Amino acid sequence: MEVWEGEQPIPRDRLLEKVGEIDGLLCILSNRIDRKLLERAARLKVVSQMAVGLDNIDLPACTTHGIKVGHTPDVLTETTADTAWALLAASVRRLPEGQQAVKDGGWGSWDPRWLLGGDLQQTTLGIVGLGRIGTAVARRAQGFQMRVLYTGPNRKPDQERELGVQYCPLVKLLRQSDHVILAAPLTTHTRHLIDRETLGMMRNKATLVNVSRGGLVDQEALWEALTKNQIARAALDVTDPEPLPPDHPLLQLDNCLVIPHLGSASLRTRAAMARLAVDNLVQGLSGRAMTAPAN
Ligand code: DGY
Repeated sequence: MEVWEGEQPIPRDRLLEKVGEIDGLLCILSNRIDRKLLERAARLKVVSQMAVGLDNIDLPACTTHGIKVGHTPDVLTETTADTAWALLAASVRRLPEGQQAVKDGGWGSWDPRWLLGGDLQQTTLGIVGLGRIGTAVARRAQGFQMRVLYTGPNRKPDQERELGVQYCPLVKLLRQSDHVILAAPLTTHTRHLIDRETLGMMRNKATLVNVSRGGLVDQEALWEALTKNQIARAALDVTDPEPLPPDHPLLQLDNCLVIPHLGSASLRTRAAMARLAVDNLVQGLSGRAMTAPAN
C-alpha cells in the first residue's frame, strides 16, 4: 500500500505516473479520474472515492475499462443537511456581517434597525434535488413550519406523503421560494442551472444556498445578481474553482457567505466516510460486492 502524505492532493502528474502500478485507488474529489488516467491504469480494478459526488470521475469510462467504482452515500447525508441549514440561517440572519462588525469595533449601542435579515419560519423553501441530502434538508424544514417545494428529474411520492413537500418545475420553484437550496449532483444537465436567466426568476429577497457543486452556479451571473440586488444573498459551501482565489469578486460582497467545502466536515462523518471508502476498496479488490457501488 502506498499513501500520499502531502497536505495538498497528489499532483496530477504523480498520479498519472503511479496509476499504472496499482490495482486499487482510494481517491478524493480533487483527483480527476478521466480517460487519460484510465488509459495508463492497466492493472486498476477498483476506484473508491471518499465522497458521494462523482463528477470528478468518468463513470462510463470506468465501466468500459471494467473498473468498479465505490463512493460514500448515506453516511454524510445528515451532516451535509446540517451544513445547508447552518449556511441558510447564518446568511438569512446576517451572522457573518454581525461577527465582522464586532471584530472591527463597529458594535455601537443596540440599534433596532441594525443588520436586519430575513426569516426562516413560515417561509417557502425550494429544494433543487430531492435526493438523500435534499430529503434530509426537507425534514429539517418541518421544524420551521415551512412550505417546501422541490424540483428534480423525478417526482418523489414517498417524500411528498411523509414530509408534505410539493413538486413543481424549476421556474415555479424559483419564483415562489424565499430560500433556494441546491442539492442536486453536477451533471451536464445541471451545470450552470443557476445562471442569469434563472437568477432573474428568483425573488429579490431570496437566499441561494449551494451545498452540491460549484458548477451548478454561473458565478459571474451570481455576482451580478447580488450586486444589483436581484437576489438578497447567497451562501456557498462549494465554488468553481476550489479553492476560490481570495481576490475573487464574490468574496468582496457582504451578502455572499462562502465556506471551503465543509458540507460533510464533522469528525464522526469524515471517519465514517473514510471507513466506508476503505470497505468499498477492500471488497472490490477481493471480488465481493461493495457496500456502496456506483457502477
Ligand atoms: C461529497 O461527498 O460529494 C461532498 O462534497 C464531500 O463530502
